[in-house]
Amino acid sequence: MTEREPLFAALEWQLEAGVDEVVGFEPVDRFAPPPVSKAPVSPPPAPGAAPSPARPAAAPAAQDTAADGDLDALRERLLAFDGCALKKTATSTVFGEGPAGAGLMIVGEAPGADEDRQGRPFVGPSGRLLERMLAAIGLAREEVYIANTVYWRPPGNRTPSAEEVEACRPFVDRQIALVAPKVLMLAGGAAAKTLLGTTEGIMRLRGRWQAFATPDGPVDVMPTFHPAFLLRSPARKREAWRDLLAVKARLEAGRP
Ligand code: URA
Repeated sequence: MTEREPLFAALEWQLEAGVDEVVGFEPVDRFAPPPVSKAPVSPPPAPGAAPSPARPAAAPAAQDTAADGDLDALRERLLAFDGCALKKTATSTVFGEGPAGAGLMIVGEAPGADEDRQGRPFVGPSGRLLERMLAAIGLAREEVYIANTVYWRPPGNRTPSAEEVEACRPFVDRQIALVAPKVLMLAGGAAAKTLLGTTEGIMRLRGRWQAFATPDGPVDVMPTFHPAFLLRSPARKREAWRDLLAVKARLEAGRP
């Protein structure tokens, strides 16, 4: 055995465990408890003194997204939000991007390695296919609002847990309400199940119009295949193309 073989074996083992990214050169223990404060401890109250007011409990997890009147305020709230465990292991928070008031909004599942590195949704191979799909119906990426159901990359690209999806849910609901798209396209079974509250698989759901309730009324929803699935199964692009044409027709309906 050469000197390097054990090193390669260790690297391969890490890759298989989902450690596929160098995010820094100094190890960081993100699960370590916060450092103990060196602030002087206040002396106990003198006998007979009035009891000091109870310390307010730690701020509840910030999820009151209805208060956020625009996407920038919502992004700020998400950046300050510590209620999803995925945040501990991710490098970036990947909020949605695109114009408020976009006619089409797309929601995928979760950021991958490229998205985690750049802090933007759908910028890896799936994103490149998504951009080509949009171009095929005459839309530039910049015209479309693109988001995910969770905002941090799950380690090793595993499927986000139900708790992680639930914790992030108010942020996707609020983004949909603020963007108020004419059509919401759900990319893949995970997004469709989360937002439509169904256990039906994407094979049955895709291509069938659904509705998503927002405070301002229902939005038309088209569930379709995830671009990552289409990269693995290009023969299914034919169905995705039909879904895209239906979306294009709905976006154009009523336009002069
Ligand atoms: N896959 C997703 O679902 N979302 C991304 O942002 C990238 C890949």
